[in-house]
Amino acid sequence: MKGKQGFIIEEYSKWIAPYRDAADRLLIRIHTLNDAYRRNSSDYPIHNVQSRMKKEESIKEKLVRKGFEPSLENAKEYLSDIAGIRIICYFEEDVYLMVQQLKRQKDMLLLREKDYIAHPKKNGYQSYHLVFGFPVYGIDDMEYYPVEVQIRTLTMDLWASMEHRVVYKSRHVETQERQEKAKEAFQQFGIELSGLERSMHRLVVPYSEEESGQVEEKREEREEERRESQREAAKRTITKSKVVLRENDREHNRRNEEKITENHMENHIQNNIEKNAAKDLEKSLETNSKDSTDKHLTERGENRIGNIFSKHNKGNAVLYSK
Ligand code: GTP
Ligand code: MG
Repeated sequence: MKGKQGFIIEEYSKWIAPYRDAADRLLIRIHTLNDAYRRNSSDYPIHNVQSRMKKEESIKEKLVRKGFEPSLENAKEYLSDIAGIRIICYFEEDVYLMVQQLKRQKDMLLLREKDYIAHPKKNGYQSYHLVFGFPVYGIDDMEYYPVEVQIRTLTMDLWASMEHRVVYKSRHVETQERQEKAKEAFQQFGIELSGLERSMHRLVVPYSEEESGQVEEKREEREEERRESQREAAKRTITKSKVVLRENDREHNRRNEEKITENHMENHIQNNIEKNAAKDLEKSLETNSKDSTDKHLTERGENRIGNIFSKHNKGNAVLYSK
């Protein structure tokens, strides 16, 4: 049966399932973290978490907008926000805390990272965007599926939701003049809202810390952490825009991107193999049979790489950047 926009509905439901699995598992991790903070103190970082799967119509609309044929294969290759999670925190420092906590979870690949808080968009948009490759295990294979995670504070969310409704959604019906007015107004709202958030934050910071200048120190520490994590991310993240790349040198850049991801995957896989090898070695020392251990380890390593890279070569692994 065909859906409104031409995708076959049964096919879409089957196709979207691993994205949903990836997002559901990541959601559990986020709630686990927040619950741990909640048990530990009254300063838990998260106000609420939302999630959504991109609908067929908007997958199609986005592919067409980006100049691709609307097919599920293209969606898999070019869209990183099929599964989306939004974490709404109280204060800016909670956002960075969550970023740090999620990046610690090394079984997820960090595929993309944008800090629109340290570097707001021209219109005033603030949010921290991450795309993780989340491992989904099938019967005899494993594949990374992308989940886009947007992390922002309540005031940033208020701004973004309103701006989306007032400026973005009404851009076709409003006159140019009204649009400009709205844009200007939202730039100002952004400034006012972050001022408000900072004032509220001052109220929850212990008086002694504020007096002794510790608040400022902490902010500087955070800045340094942020810079460090950005340096890290720059090494690990594919940041170029695929759309722009496509307009330039398609094949050359594609190979480059794949190489970056391959290196990343290789490191990741190598780490796993080393970990497993250590475990296996321990086990085999117990049984005292060195020959069989070597064979076992080699087979295991090759199989794992073989599995993932055969997927990778078929274009099934999650390889994309935007
Ligand atoms: P998309 O093609 O829209 O995914 O943009 P992108 O690939 O450049 O990704 P980016 O990380 O910049 O933005 C992804 C998402 O962030 C959007 O789909 C929105 O949900 C949100 N977003 C980005 N910019 C704005 C903005 O200016 N206003 C609002 N309200 N939301 C924004
Ligand atoms: Mg997006």
